[in-house]
Amino acid sequence: MIPGLSEKAKNKIKEIIARYPQKQAAILPVLRLVKEELGFIDHEAEKFTAALFDVHPIRVREIVTFYSMLNQSQLGKYHIQVCSNLSCSIMGAQTLIEYLSQKLGIKPGGTTKDKKFTLSTVECLGACEKAPCMMINFEYYGNLTREKIDDILNRLE
Ligand code: FES
Repeated sequence: MIPGLSEKAKNKIKEIIARYPQKQAAILPVLRLVKEELGFIDHEAEKFTAALFDVHPIRVREIVTFYSMLNQSQLGKYHIQVCSNLSCSIMGAQTLIEYLSQKLGIKPGGTTKDKKFTLSTVECLGACEKAPCMMINFEYYGNLTREKIDDILNRLE
């Protein structure tokens, strides 16, 4: 089993796997649980997950690197993901990314020293009608402006 998991999480993994007629279909939900439990999915967790599902480690690596929510290192308490794809770019995403970067004192990919914020740029968040948009953890924020970002961050603090 994956090192560092609680007994509750280990039991939950068994429950998740039992839900699927094909065991390998449970890889993604199990990875999500591992991420929630450990905070990230490192190479060790990937290897153990591959062994658990009897698949080659590259299969798990492909999944982990495809989904931006399956981060591979420890993130800040609030993970700010700003969309930098076409609709959001046209609506000023780059300016907002620079604003956030300056406001937080970190570049995209960085985490503040107090571990409160991680800033990332991501591809389409599937909310193009609200461009420019971002997610903070699992919450969407759209039609962003500098003022709106200030307000959102102030409410988090
Ligand atoms: S392009 Fe930004 S949400 Fe789709």
